[in-house]
Amino acid sequence: MTKISIPQDVILKGAEQFGTPLWLYNRETIEKAVKDVKVFDTVRFAQKACPNLSIVALIKKLGCVVDAVSAGEIVRALRAGFKGGVEKGRVPEIVYTADIFDRDALELVKKYNIPVNVGSPDMIQQLADAGIKSELTLRINPGFGHGHSSKVNTGGPLSKHGVWHEQIKDCVKLAQANGMWITGLHMHIGSGSDFEHLAQVCDAMCDASRRLGSHLRTISAGGGLPIPYKPEEKGNRIDVNAYYKLWDDARKKIQQSIGHDVSLEVEPGRYLVAESGYLVTEIRAVKKQGENLFYLVDAGFTDLVRPSFYGSYHEISILPRDGRVLDEMVDAVVAGPLCESGDVFTQEEGGFVVTRKLPKAKVGDLLIIHDTGAYGAAMSSNYNSRRYAAEVMYTAGELKVIRERQTFEQMLQNDRVIEF
Ligand code: LLP
Repeated sequence: MTKISIPQDVILKGAEQFGTPLWLYNRETIEKAVKDVKVFDTVRFAQKACPNLSIVALIKKLGCVVDAVSAGEIVRALRAGFKGGVEKGRVPEIVYTADIFDRDALELVKKYNIPVNVGSPDMIQQLADAGIKSELTLRINPGFGHGHSSKVNTGGPLSKHGVWHEQIKDCVKLAQANGMWITGLHMHIGSGSDFEHLAQVCDAMCDASRRLGSHLRTISAGGGLPIPYKPEEKGNRIDVNAYYKLWDDARKKIQQSIGHDVSLEVEPGRYLVAESGYLVTEIRAVKKQGENLFYLVDAGFTDLVRPSFYGSYHEISILPRDGRVLDEMVDAVVAGPLCESGDVFTQEEGGFVVTRKLPKAKVGDLLIIHDTGAYGAAMSSNYNSRRYAAEVMYTAGELKVIRERQTFEQMLQNDRVIEF
């Protein structure tokens, strides 16, 4: 069992003060993760992983820039202190990466002069039609992909993401015909990649760069750096330096063939925030269904959807409120409060419910789900009319609220009751 990086008394106090379910983040863990990836020239945080304003602002303070995939993420990036605009010789602070513009996004891209990482040729035409002449980067689908689940594989002919690798030249022509230049290439083939796939992506980047030619100034390795979710993976973390080295070698090859410097970006989401976060829940019922023991907690897939959606594994700890020693282990299923049989935290891909060896627990104990800083709060919903949980950061020995628990009023505020 991996040790929780926030002291137990702090967690107990947090649960008392802010109620459960509760997202707790450890600032130090984020700082350490950022340091690891700073070997790259530019670290662009994929804020979709955890878009809380304080988290985005912290990551800014640590010297990173940011990616935005929607109008809302542009607004968040601006609110967190990043600036729009493109200046010669400076890394753009916000880049919009998507496969389409919705109308809101196009409007904000224009208003704040946000550079675009284009995921489909139609976007180039739409920029031109909107009277925007900006430098572009192309997100390439190299024709293959990889990921921890088929749902996060973002390359290959069945993926909607990116410009198909054979269309690079057409995009260059389309951009030039409209007074725009493509100055960067980007590849993100999925989340949780391994080195074998990575080497393949680096080769694909070199190929793509040949098709683009001499305007190339930036290549982006995308995101996808994995973190160890399972205890047996903990001793075998990804070697970020080796990851960098593969990309740096690709960059050097490209520089040699085009004859000038190219800067190297990386765009991690999960790696920067996943391990900083814990979902703190309370056990509200302990019951037997036939032979199976169930711990029912007050968080559901409306809070953390990863196990239900991808069969993702998260470590689980029990923290008793009464200070008793946990010396007996049992096999238990951990599930939430929703009216959905898939609302189970211990399940495998395909929805197979499994048990987990956990300490014998009772109602009132805290149950803590680890490594939930990425795609945890970010993917929460109001389904079953459950409110968004509070988010709290542990920083300099203190707990600070970075998002209040949603009130019932806030949950209902945009509903309108019409006359019947
Ligand atoms: N860049 C692009 C263009 C992306 O599409 C993504 C993730 C990232 C960067 C960041 O990937 P990361 O470093 O976080 O793996 N909800 C899923 C992950 C979906 C990722 C979507 N795109 C999960 O909970 O695992």
